[in-house]
Amino acid sequence: MRAPAKLNLQLAVGPPRADGYHGLVTVFHAVSLFDEVTAEPARRDAVTVSGEGADRVPAGRDNLALRAVAALRRATAGPASAAAGVHITIVKRIPVAAGLAGGSADAAAALVACNELWGGGLSQSRLVEVAARVGSDVGFALLGGTAVGRGRGERLTPALAPATQYHWVLAFADGQLSTPEVYAALDQLRAAGRPAGAGTRPPAPPALDAALMSALRSGDARMVGRALSNDLQPAALSLFPALRKTLAAGLELGALGALVSGSGPTCVFLAASPDRALDLAVSLSGAGVCRSVARVAGPVPGAAVIPPPK
Ligand code: C5P
Repeated sequence: MRAPAKLNLQLAVGPPRADGYHGLVTVFHAVSLFDEVTAEPARRDAVTVSGEGADRVPAGRDNLALRAVAALRRATAGPASAAAGVHITIVKRIPVAAGLAGGSADAAAALVACNELWGGGLSQSRLVEVAARVGSDVGFALLGGTAVGRGRGERLTPALAPATQYHWVLAFADGQLSTPEVYAALDQLRAAGRPAGAGTRPPAPPALDAALMSALRSGDARMVGRALSNDLQPAALSLFPALRKTLAAGLELGALGALVSGSGPTCVFLAASPDRALDLAVSLSGAGVCRSVARVAGPVPGAAVIPPPK
């Protein structure tokens, strides 16, 4: 299987709910940076992780892919094969704790893989329900494309958009941010009456950005670039001030738009064409404002079997 990283083209965050999560409205967008996930029958559940940042991925039952396996087993009362263990092998290309939902991608891939392996026959909408129990972003990693997420991100509606491909440059940071800490920092900034940073919205209630949706419908990358927004950005910048330089450098180098991805610290830049993305990637890595860069395109499909080589 392979499963894509996600960006949030809009992330509007409301106040904390009674369950600790934040109500939000977000526009998810899947991009061509994939983790590879294999599932094989085994005596007991286990996971092996290699690749980018593998040493920072939990290897035990806390691993999101194994939590997905357990959640699917509970939902698939029936096939005897589901009673057996599964060995999940993950090759990471999506950096860990980078705001790109890499763990959610692995969980989504594990759901699709075990559904196939066990012949569970769960429909995609049932899988999306199971996904929501594993994490807020897991359902979107199943769906892919561009989609609006509501609730805590798990209530999904595919965005009707033309087949425009957008060209992005990702700037990976030297460091990580914890998602709960970034949400907590946002609550603190708001409590201190500091919704003054660029892109900060009042904490209630989050709403879909009509300008972004209209830009996506028109397929106009310039308009999309201007409409990108992330309420978590001021919080991520307060915890990781060096990201300000990264964002400024990308805009100075001609990006159509720039923002922190999700809870960060990855910075995302929209380019007008594949060539402009290449120029931007080369210049950004030369500017010394990030650990490394990647060029990706979106939207791409959600977690799916890798087609065999022709
Ligand atoms: O759902 P998931 O486990 O991916 O979320 C990780 C953490 O991010 C949550 O424990 C919570 O602290 C924060 N979060 C939030 N509101 C959301 C999604 C995530 O506060 N809508």
